[in-house]
Amino acid sequence: MTDAGHVPVLLEETLAALAIRPGGIYVDATFGRGGHSRAILSRLDASGRVVALDRDPAAEDAARDIRDPRFVFRRAWFSELPAELAALDLAHVDGVLLDLGISSPQIDDPARGFSFRADGPLDMRMDPTRGESAAAFLARADARELTEVLRDYGEERSAQSIARAIVAARAVAPVVRTRQLAAIVAQAVGTRPRGDWSQDPATRTFQALRIFINRELAELALTLPRLPPLLSPGGRLAVISFHSLEDRIVKRFFAFASQPFGGDPRLARLPLPAAALPGAPLARVGRAIRPSAHEVAANPRARSATLRIAERTGHPVPARFAATFAGT
Ligand SMILES: C[S@@+](CC[C@H](N)C(=O)[O-])C[C@H]1O[C@@H](n2cnc3c(N)ncnc32)[C@H](O)[C@@H]1O
Repeated sequence: MTDAGHVPVLLEETLAALAIRPGGIYVDATFGRGGHSRAILSRLDASGRVVALDRDPAAEDAARDIRDPRFVFRRAWFSELPAELAALDLAHVDGVLLDLGISSPQIDDPARGFSFRADGPLDMRMDPTRGESAAAFLARADARELTEVLRDYGEERSAQSIARAIVAARAVAPVVRTRQLAAIVAQAVGTRPRGDWSQDPATRTFQALRIFINRELAELALTLPRLPPLLSPGGRLAVISFHSLEDRIVKRFFAFASQPFGGDPRLARLPLPAAALPGAPLARVGRAIRPSAHEVAANPRARSATLRIAERTGHPVPARFAATFAGT
């Protein structure tokens, strides 16, 4: 455990994935409490740099503890990385890390509303300065929208019953506390909350709301195709995901970007010999990496982690690359 309360997942594997050069420039797009940033810094010489991003103001506070001229923190959403690098006058970097999801300090702080293990306000925003809180969403969404969110982002089989229960409950009193929501879910699915929170009937509901409120999947799908143009040839992209919905997007993007002509279906239809076609912007590196049993025993949060790695080739990134991926 780091003194700041978040154990970085797949740390050695991530450092290897980034193929760190001592004088390189690396982006940690999900700073959290800086476990990965600190480890990358420790591998750099005086000319290397780490640019860290996080949208959480608490992460920004934690980043102030790193007093190192090679380190810079920007509070931003990672989809804004191109503008953030431009503001720092950086055209290209040697590696980008996305360690997705939430950090332990976010889950552990009842005031953030991410967990039902302690009572707190149903906020759930990683960036409390933007967008709507979970309580505001639960107050305005109709049963159909609630059902869709719980089903699509939580893969919750009882989505409809839970949605109806939320609508019924809010007719009596606004649903604004974490424990209150957990009790509504437990009653709707006919199970009582158990000691083991990972098995709690509300786990999927909380996951679904968190993903939806923070636009986690849209952020990921928007960001990935913006990264290859920022990487120098040979630069690495390392993405750690924590559930199948995220991993599916990463896997699909890596497959898309490692096709010749960057996956543009219009070019694929042209009657050209393979050798005449522009090569792929990215090349996948190895297979998906999962934590060892040893790591999972020491850090249960690691149990669902998957690390995927890709390397920037020397081939150009097609002009409409991001738009084409969005349309696939
Ligand atoms: C799993 S934690 C990262 C932990 C970090 N690697 C460490 O070792 O401390 C994920 C972090 O990413 C941030 N985050 C998630 N989605 C983001 C986004 N779209 N833009 C910026 N930050 C994001 C969260 O606020 C959280 O602090």
